[in-house]
Amino acid sequence: MSKSASPLLPSGEGGGRKGVRKGALPSRRAIGPPDEGAALAELFAGAKAAQANAYAPYSRFRVGAALRTTSGTVFSGCNVENAAYPQGSCAEAGAIAAMAAAGERRIAEILVIGDGEALCTPCGGCRQRIREFADASTPVHVAGPEGVRQTFTLDELLPESFGPEHLAV
Ligand code: THU
Repeated sequence: MSKSASPLLPSGEGGGRKGVRKGALPSRRAIGPPDEGAALAELFAGAKAAQANAYAPYSRFRVGAALRTTSGTVFSGCNVENAAYPQGSCAEAGAIAAMAAAGERRIAEILVIGDGEALCTPCGGCRQRIREFADASTPVHVAGPEGVRQTFTLDELLPESFGPEHLAV
């Protein structure tokens, strides 16, 4: 998947991209069901709300994640750091734990939000965590405070990956 156009941004938050004139963009992309924008906005809102609760006193880098399961339920998480640094956990891990605790097992799409200029792509460990419950084509949206910046498939982030099916020997 490629860089997202403004319809993938939550409504009212799409005007802040560098070099992008608001009026110059089509009203929506001709892909997916009509409610795709609303579904993504819900995911963005969930991740942003979780990010606000991040416990990151050491890195000061707050991360939020929200995922939608194949049943349509949204689960979110934030990073939770620890004075014993390696014991900290990532936002994606929190969202996945919440999903599993609710008895769900399949991620339809996931969004990660972080501050700063750089894309807050999932760390290597979290790519593997997502891999456990997602497909190669599962969208991974990477957002900043203004909205979704780029969307990847899981396979783009973790090619030639190892997963549960490899254990079926
Ligand atoms: N972090 C996440 O929550 N998710 C990622 O995929 C990247 C990194 C957190 C971990 C740590 O609390 C902070 O960001 C700085 O690395």
